[in-house]
Amino acid sequence: MEQELIQIKEKALAAIKAADDLTVLNEQRVRYLGKKGSLTAILRGMGKLAPEERPRIGQLVNKVRADIESLIEEKQTALKARELSDRLATEKIDVTLPGRKRELGHFHPLTLTLNKLKDIFRSMGYSIAEGPQIETDYFNFEALNLPKDHPARDMQDSFYITDEILMRTQTSPVQARTMQSHEPNSPIKIIAPGRVYRRDDYDATHSPMFTQVEGLCIDENIKFSDLKGTLTMAMQQLFNDDLKLRFRPSFFPFTEPSAEVDISCVMCHGKGCRVCKGTGWLEILGAGMVHPRVLEMSGYDPQKVSGFAFGLGVERVAMLAYGIEDLRLFFDNDLRFLKQFC
Ligand code: DAH
Repeated sequence: MEQELIQIKEKALAAIKAADDLTVLNEQRVRYLGKKGSLTAILRGMGKLAPEERPRIGQLVNKVRADIESLIEEKQTALKARELSDRLATEKIDVTLPGRKRELGHFHPLTLTLNKLKDIFRSMGYSIAEGPQIETDYFNFEALNLPKDHPARDMQDSFYITDEILMRTQTSPVQARTMQSHEPNSPIKIIAPGRVYRRDDYDATHSPMFTQVEGLCIDENIKFSDLKGTLTMAMQQLFNDDLKLRFRPSFFPFTEPSAEVDISCVMCHGKGCRVCKGTGWLEILGAGMVHPRVLEMSGYDPQKVSGFAFGLGVERVAMLAYGIEDLRLFFDNDLRFLKQFC
């Protein structure tokens, strides 16, 4: 048995020395020291030895195992070092290569305009409300004082999903939704930005999908002068400090009185130019005092509270703010256009 051990040791040491990479080295370790390895087999056979022989052979087995282990360790260190220096020699980073440029995105001009509007109204104490783009006939028309056969519905023919459900034609339904989600007669100061849809041509100034910002302010004693003050301040902040506003009588079923609001032309400052068609004024939004019927239908008491509302077209504002002549550019997604708003 002693003889056998010496043989194993010699074979093992030779094999380990010859191992040329870490995989082969590991195979040798398993072969000699592993559970089914030859040294383990010897240990199993110890039972057959005479009792007085056992300690001596046992010691010898341990010695052989220790020798093999230390040689494996030595070899492993050497192989790892060689592997590393090989990699260092072959893998080189070329620090002179140009880096990969990361293209950063940026906001769309409509989003920029919306963000400005939101900031302006937030600074005046308004919060942002939202409503669904797929709306019921009730909220889009009925609750805004536009009953089924009202002729004013014709101007806002839309995409109907069923007889009672349509793509909203205006952000005004958020007025009714907001009132109905509040305690009756409690104060409201919201703007509601979002997309709206109407059956319309797609030309330089029209699109069947566009963006509006609705405004609603309700409290005790809200007057037309509050509407004028609020809109004047907001439009002056958006365009410039000496902008003037003009209120023309108009009609909307959900406001009384109603007004069409013009701003002095941002291009020529009122002198008259191509953009304002020589008039010096640009029509920019619709507004008015919330109709008593509209308050009533959503649970508010027109004897106790009053309010104003307005609706503004965001594309219109963005076109004026950035001097864009064709509304379709907003939706074409042409990078040559969009990149000008970085
Ligand atoms: N909803 C109207 C439209 O789309 C705009 C509008 C007019 C909104 C007057 C209002 C308002 O809140 O008071 O044409």
